Amino acid sequence: MTAARLTVDPRSAIGPVRRRLFGGFVEHLGRHVYDGLYEPGHPQADERGFRRDVIALVRELGVSTIRYPGGNFVSGFRWEDSVGPREQRPRRLDLAWHSTETNEIGLHEFADWLDAVGSDLMLAVNLGTRGTLEAIDLLEYANVPGGSTLSQQRIDNGRVEPFDVRVWCLGNEMDGPWQLGHRSADDYGKLAARTAKGMRQLDPSIELVVCGSSGRAMPTFGDWERVVLEHTYDDVDMISCHAYYQEHDGDAASFLASAVDMDRFIEAVVATADAVGAARGSTKRIDISFDEWNIWYIDRVDAVKPTAIDDWPVAPRLLEDVYSVQDAVVFGSLLISLLAHSDRVASASLAQLVNVIAPIMTEPGGPAWRQTTFFPFALTSRLARGAAVRVSVETPMIDTATYGAVPAVSAVATADAEAGEAALFLVHRGREEAIDVEIDVRGLGEVAVVETHLLHDDDLSARNTRDEPERVQPRAVETRLEDGILRVSLPPVAWAALALRRVG
Ligand code: AHR
Repeated sequence: MTAARLTVDPRSAIGPVRRRLFGGFVEHLGRHVYDGLYEPGHPQADERGFRRDVIALVRELGVSTIRYPGGNFVSGFRWEDSVGPREQRPRRLDLAWHSTETNEIGLHEFADWLDAVGSDLMLAVNLGTRGTLEAIDLLEYANVPGGSTLSQQRIDNGRVEPFDVRVWCLGNEMDGPWQLGHRSADDYGKLAARTAKGMRQLDPSIELVVCGSSGRAMPTFGDWERVVLEHTYDDVDMISCHAYYQEHDGDAASFLASAVDMDRFIEAVVATADAVGAARGSTKRIDISFDEWNIWYIDRVDAVKPTAIDDWPVAPRLLEDVYSVQDAVVFGSLLISLLAHSDRVASASLAQLVNVIAPIMTEPGGPAWRQTTFFPFALTSRLARGAAVRVSVETPMIDTATYGAVPAVSAVATADAEAGEAALFLVHRGREEAIDVEIDVRGLGEVAVVETHLLHDDDLSARNTRDEPERVQPRAVETRLEDGILRVSLPPVAWAALALRRVG
């Protein structure tokens, strides 16, 4: 048995817990929309064809803003296809995922679904195969109350009130050679700056996200951010980060340390953005929109190339990863990393939500269930309130092939002084033995432990499936709190959330 010593001091506030940190992402991809959140013939479908069981799970997950409609999909998307009478909407070939897009669900239907799940819309515009004018047109359609042709079209199509979309992404992963319309940082930076200026001329109140790198390992990483921000610094609010993690070649130790990569990624992008700002003598600060993050076994990606020119399926099964307990522990640690950077990560989107690398799975005509990754997201979203607070950690270290020596225990806290509530989120990456964790919570005043949740299983490969949808569940963990010292023992490979409330 080894030990770790943690101290929570609410004076070490990092930044506010912004609800947008708990965003999601819905892409027209595989069975995400069709046969996922929308299945008109399903016994649970409402009058619009949306599955009520999925709506209930998305609500339980606690997702704030949802990025839409892609992803790689957006780089071939014509937004006009997705509005107006359904029977007149074109069927299009989606080159990104080699599928047919029927446009049965479009902007209006998706906004209705968002109303049902209680989340806000975040839109991405196509800067891959389209340009500034189409982006401005979409903004006019979405946000102008009335009095113009496009806003009137929206009204005629059934939405009198504007969609009032606050956050807009200027394209998707434009640094990636796989992206339709992929371009150099210089070309993209110029296009993004022109588009941002035009969009702001129409609606100065919107927040804009410029594309950063699709991953820290991209060969252009760093330079891409610098060049793109040199063009767009004055016109955007955030730069995006995307990161997906998986276990490579059985190297579980490195996989369990994935959040170290996320930390380094965020810190490098912040440093680059601040360097661009300093060189310009700017007092403005660019924040991060971590608008795609998750575990994704990308090496196992199903063949998405058509076998024949007429092979363009509707809603094929794509990217339907089934997550293990170990995946969920890593996933929980990524949330710790995001919270621990609340000062600069202003928004984040879990990619994705239903069926496609998702916390929620469905079967056509059958059940919907929670994957293992559902639990850390739902618990963190529900319990994290007030301000994110740094936790100082004395911990044994673990050697990893990819990241060197990493802390065995990592943690972050949140505290809402007014409500007298606090929460601790912890991960134990050690794989051999349990660890005794001692947490000095005296800085929080006199508190009691009101909830405990432990995600762990002796079988690290345990998963929830259609046949065994509740095989993995978080369970309570024993804690002892004496004289402001909270003690908990964490088994190997575990994630935990502890909620505290002020007493007296
Ligand atoms: O989330 C799946 C895909 O990952 C998205 O379409 C793309 O943006 C990223 O490469």
